[in-house]
Amino acid sequence: MDVKIEKLVYGGEGLGHHEGHTVFVPFVLPDEVVTVQPVERKKKFVRGRVSHVLTPSPQRATPPCPHFAVCGGCHYQHIPYEAQLPYKTEILRETFRRLGRVEWGGPIQTHASPPFGYRNRAQWKIRPAGAAAKNAIGYFQAGSSTLCAVDECPVLSPRLAETLAGLRDLLAESRLPAKLREVEAFTDDADRKVLLNASVETFDGPPESLASLLLTALPGVETILLQEISRDRYELFGPGFIHYHAAGNRCRVGHLSFFQVNRFLIEELVHTVLAEERGKLALDLFAGVGLFTLPLAKRFERVVGVESDLAAARDLQANIEESKGNAQQVNAAVESLLTEWQERPDYVVLDPPRAGVSDGALRQLLRLGPPRLAYLSCDPATLARDLRVLTGGLDPAAGPGAYQIAEVHLFDLFPQTYHIESLVRLKRRE
Ligand SMILES: C[S@@+](CC[C@H](N)C(=O)[O-])C[C@H]1O[C@@H](n2cnc3c(N)ncnc32)[C@H](O)[C@@H]1O
Repeated sequence: MDVKIEKLVYGGEGLGHHEGHTVFVPFVLPDEVVTVQPVERKKKFVRGRVSHVLTPSPQRATPPCPHFAVCGGCHYQHIPYEAQLPYKTEILRETFRRLGRVEWGGPIQTHASPPFGYRNRAQWKIRPAGAAAKNAIGYFQAGSSTLCAVDECPVLSPRLAETLAGLRDLLAESRLPAKLREVEAFTDDADRKVLLNASVETFDGPPESLASLLLTALPGVETILLQEISRDRYELFGPGFIHYHAAGNRCRVGHLSFFQVNRFLIEELVHTVLAEERGKLALDLFAGVGLFTLPLAKRFERVVGVESDLAAARDLQANIEESKGNAQQVNAAVESLLTEWQERPDYVVLDPPRAGVSDGALRQLLRLGPPRLAYLSCDPATLARDLRVLTGGLDPAAGPGAYQIAEVHLFDLFPQTYHIESLVRLKRRE
């Protein structure tokens, strides 16, 4: 099928039409004409892969990474970085319109990142590969659990690139357990100290030996959590966390806690979430280890950080105690906390996982009616759905919703990928 690409859609693919079918195909650019080999045929759409680019876009660039288009990690390395952001902006605006019926005609303020070397966290898979079926390290190929072995990954911070190279050498020398399946590494703001999580199907030797090998062979490793998958057993070697300095605070981040992955945009993200907000009470919902809770506590008389994950909530508690601020931590699901909550907050920060905010929690927020909200999202689709509830969308029968959008920001936390992080500031209608 020869298809003209009309636009890029969320998920990394381009969209075109062919004989009444919508065609989705990755690694293309708008206005290109490409020959598509179908991979999946459904009643209304076809998914395929490009076999030839018949008319390349003048924007098409040579991907810097030799593993691009096989490795499932990146989607946009064929697009120069400066062009990726306008495409993401259009995708965000269209997602608001299509899935949320939210017509945002105002600006989308973009926050660009250095295009490479930005990740402070990576998860590498380890699987037998090649003719010799020797263990190799890399990422899964797109939509599969087949390993794409990598010897470089340009989105990693220098320290993580070093960690990857060290692990690759240990594997080449057969010094790692045969059943090692995954290693996750996280570095601090200085890109020096490293926290490691390693998952082994079954230990074939004492876990202490593996921990001491990793500690000595890999630079900067401070703490290691080993998981034995078959017995669901964990062994900790080290303090169990590293510290990340952000926005004038020191955050302890443990082995199982969430932390933002783009090391260049964290400060800007915190400052934009905080803006000029001040007042009596702020709620930081989906608080993690307190990236926003701690600085909010300098602006508000009281801040409540709500986090359901026990590991993250423990880090949050430790971080609040160390900062000696006027914040408190609640280890609960946002939904249950809001159901009980009576006091009207002046400001609410929402930073949910990809699933977004549950309908019940949104209804409770509408009941409480804080004058201002900041919604940080890593999934435009669920953000659009939730904005529809908060703003009332364009449905004339429903009348105007309780909130109106004041600002939309796009933080490019994940250059070279289709992922979109956005922040919407909302204010209550008078
Ligand atoms: C995207 S992270 C944001 C963390 C933090 N705001 C930050 O920027 O570092 C979402 C957090 O919400 C937590 N979480 C997920 N579902 C939750 C729920 N229903 N109630 C409370 N916390 C939840 C997760 O454990 C995770 O720490």
